[in-house]
Amino acid sequence: MARIQYAERAMPLMSGLRRRFVSERPFDGLSIAACLHVTAETAVLVRSLRAGGARVSLAASNPLSTQDDIAQALQSDGIDVHARAGVDRKTYYQHIAAALNDGADLIVDDGGDLVSTVHTTGKPGVRGGCESTTTGVIRLRRMAADGALAFPMIAANDTPAKRMLDNVCGTGQSVIDGILRATNTLLAGKTVVIAGFGACGAGIAARAAGLGSRVIVTEVDPVRALDASLRGFPVLPMAEAAPVGEVFISATGSVDVIGAEHVAVMRDGAILANAGHFDAEIDVRALETAAVAVHSDARPHVDAYELADGRRLLLLAEGRVVNLVAAEGHPPEVMDLAFGILALSLAWLATNAGKLCADVHPVPPELDAEAAGLTLAAMGVRIDTLTEAQREYLDSWRIGS
Ligand code: ADE
Repeated sequence: MARIQYAERAMPLMSGLRRRFVSERPFDGLSIAACLHVTAETAVLVRSLRAGGARVSLAASNPLSTQDDIAQALQSDGIDVHARAGVDRKTYYQHIAAALNDGADLIVDDGGDLVSTVHTTGKPGVRGGCESTTTGVIRLRRMAADGALAFPMIAANDTPAKRMLDNVCGTGQSVIDGILRATNTLLAGKTVVIAGFGACGAGIAARAAGLGSRVIVTEVDPVRALDASLRGFPVLPMAEAAPVGEVFISATGSVDVIGAEHVAVMRDGAILANAGHFDAEIDVRALETAAVAVHSDARPHVDAYELADGRRLLLLAEGRVVNLVAAEGHPPEVMDLAFGILALSLAWLATNAGKLCADVHPVPPELDAEAAGLTLAAMGVRIDTLTEAQREYLDSWRIGS
């Protein structure tokens, strides 16, 4: 399919890994169940895993983000795909369970719904897996702390290279992309309130500021709030930001960040978008309760909630992750590194899972460095190497000034 090939041309790391997997066959005889956003970039990953000998089944990691034409193309290729855009919650979880039906040796998750389904349905045989989001890693750590995690999981999200390219650049760009595609609004001169100043929030803030917005940050973490302040962004409690914001973007991983008390004071025409994995950040029920009518006919992915006093608040993508519902998620250059780290970690797990305990493990640092190095090479960027004297200096505690 041309769109998958278009993405693959911008994914040199994955193309190289696919060639490597064809000759090394790291997944021969293994089944891999994946729960990922079904996009052109995911198709490139799935094909690479299959080229390495895996039998792959795929379910969507969000009920609204599936690109149906991509799902169909993968299905015609013989991949076991369980995903359709716009399914209800019950069907969404049925799809995830179906991806596990024939058993899985390894799993790949995006948000933690696959891992939690493995554990609640008691599917045996999983040796380990990888998680690619902040939200999913937080869930996994809670499971591990409860003693509930039954196999090792690699926190592919947490490598420095992935965090920088994916969370900062990928989310930063694609969230703005989703908001612009949905609304066709001008961001220059607008007051944009960003809830959460983690890697994703910081990436979004930088890009909104670059487009000429006045950016306000809200935070609960003093270190992150300090970081935002030191980068020149005003930091306010949401209660004070709510009446002045024109665009609200939530990137916290938390719940009810925008609630009834904020809806009550927001300006007419305010745009509400969620950049977090789950649709819990904006209290949509509070909007529904406050509204006298909902108008959905102006543009796709824009629901105008009309309030009793005549104000209209524009909720994007039903409060679901805006970059994947209203746009296409991260561009392929970003997913190249994110999926490259995932694919290298899976190949590593295929031989090493048995040596790990049932806990959350970091990506082996050499894999992160390898993926970053291959990405740099593909970008044509060259770097220095340490001289012998520098290596000796850095390795020694005896040498001072
Ligand atoms: N997560 C964010 N962007 C994505 C993309 N393009 N494909 C799959 N998962 C994603």
